Amino acid sequence: MSSTSSIRLLLNGAPVAINGLRPQTTLLEYLREERRLTGTKEGCAEGDCGACTVVLAELTGARLAWKPVNACIRLLPSVDGKAVFTVESLRAPDGLLHPAQRALIDCHGSQCGFCTPGFAMSLFGLYKNAHRPDRGAVDDALSGNLCRCTGYLPILAAAQRMYDIDTMAGWRGPGINADGSRCESSEEKSIAAQLAALTRAHPFEYAAEGQRWIAPQTIVELADACLTRPDAQIVAGATDVGLWVTKQQRDLGDIIYTGDCAELQVIANTCSHLEIGAAVTLTDACAALDAEWPELHEAWIRFGSVPIRNSGTLGGNVANGSPIGDSMPALMALGATIVLRQGDEQREMPLDDYYLDYRKTVCKPGEFVVTLRVPHRHDRLLLRAYKIAKRFDQDISAVFACFALTLDDGLDDGRIAQARIGCGGVAPIPKRAKATETLFEGRRWDDATAEAAAISLAQEFAPIGDMRASAGYRRAMLANLLRRFRVETAAPAVAVRVHAAVTIMV
Ligand SMILES: Cc1cc2nc3c(=O)[nH]c(=O)nc-3n(C[C@H](O)[C@H](O)[C@H](O)COP(=O)(O)OP(=O)(O)OC[C@H]3O[C@@H](n4cnc5c(N)ncnc54)[C@H](O)[C@@H]3O)c2cc1C
Ligand code: FES
Ligand code: FES
Repeated sequence: MSSTSSIRLLLNGAPVAINGLRPQTTLLEYLREERRLTGTKEGCAEGDCGACTVVLAELTGARLAWKPVNACIRLLPSVDGKAVFTVESLRAPDGLLHPAQRALIDCHGSQCGFCTPGFAMSLFGLYKNAHRPDRGAVDDALSGNLCRCTGYLPILAAAQRMYDIDTMAGWRGPGINADGSRCESSEEKSIAAQLAALTRAHPFEYAAEGQRWIAPQTIVELADACLTRPDAQIVAGATDVGLWVTKQQRDLGDIIYTGDCAELQVIANTCSHLEIGAAVTLTDACAALDAEWPELHEAWIRFGSVPIRNSGTLGGNVANGSPIGDSMPALMALGATIVLRQGDEQREMPLDDYYLDYRKTVCKPGEFVVTLRVPHRHDRLLLRAYKIAKRFDQDISAVFACFALTLDDGLDDGRIAQARIGCGGVAPIPKRAKATETLFEGRRWDDATAEAAAISLAQEFAPIGDMRASAGYRRAMLANLLRRFRVETAAPAVAVRVHAAVTIMV
């Protein structure tokens, strides 16, 4: 693992080798400053606005997976071995605009135009991944793009309109046929073959200007790298770490990248639990969790945006240990455990025991997160997760609460055998509400129990007030979310959600 190599990728279809740029250079800096591909914009430089959206094509098996990501916080060496497509590549060589671009024009989806390249790339990502998606899927695909002047309806209309425009040939064509099968052009097969040729037989190491990027391919190599360089910065999707670079101008020092480590990419269903490797992207982790616990679906689609979830990982969220991280309260309520490794030693513990204090965990020097294990669900589980934030999409939680009740018997007569409540945004760490949990046990799931628990929950934490919410609001939210949980899980359940019906005129 000592010899270094260039960063190798395909940029808008052409092979590129990069040397001499510090490993913590962002993909956006490279595109704009080194390649003068200035169609990709810098708006916020923190993953929020989507002006910098590019689409990565990655090899999964023999095929390409198309993933919109935020170039502003993506570290350049992490796209080694991938194909990067920027807005400059969307128009065909003969000048024909891509259906995503044509539709934005036809639907008047651009005014000042600053956000438009990012929207075009998110639409292109959607075009490759869905055939005539429904409104919910369109909203989700555009959840990471902000527009301050056009307004969203023309852009949403463009997302529908692009499927009515004549398709293009080659990699620009749609990714999914009308019957749901995947289309794959010979050009895409050629890109896949070129990426296969870039696959590395040995771990990728890259160095420039005194900084080193180390990308182990196996867990043994990763453990060894972390042990020999305990001060190196572990990086996964960089959706947290990227902001330390762009907003705090931090020097990360040497970087150990987990994204190439095979064992950390595994999602496995054992007889007792679902196992999600630390470097599994949030997109894939949320899909796996969603399949078994569909009650959590809304929480996952409100986690960042599609580009954030395409880069960010579950392990990164958990290891970062933010008190307002969304996955941990849900994982705690589900009874998840975390597996850590230092050298040859591996240990497993309940996720609630992992956090010591504000952004302090039990991790020792050179120790890293291997995987999260979530016990399989059983029937008699009542489960809900609620995120309180100022926006529906792409916003950090003020409060997050996940309630999991295990009933002894049927819902009508059953008493509560076990309660687990995971909370975020109300303490220095993500935390279970253990005092309130005990109050449930042996009681019936009825209005009286819910009210007693709501009062207890509001008193169990002493949250701070900040720009997201006051302390009093947070406490009130905890109690009200528990009441809402009761209303939504009482028999018969009461509908508490109002969905807006919007018709888009094209
Ligand atoms: C625009 C935007 C929106 C966001 N929205 C949300 C949201 O809605 N909810 C939410 O919870 N978070 C949100 N985040 C935060 C972030 O996306 C998540 O915390 C994400 O899961 C971090 O994963 P990552 O792979 O990008 O971690 P990185 O940034 O790569 O790393 C984060 C930390 O984890 C450590 N780390 C990573 N992997 C390991 C490992 N295997 N072992 C030990 N340490 C490790 C790193 O050293 C670092 O300290 C948002 C971020 C942005 C920029
Ligand atoms: S510049 Fe705003 S998300 Fe990247
Ligand atoms: S068109 Fe101006 S920000 Fe979207």
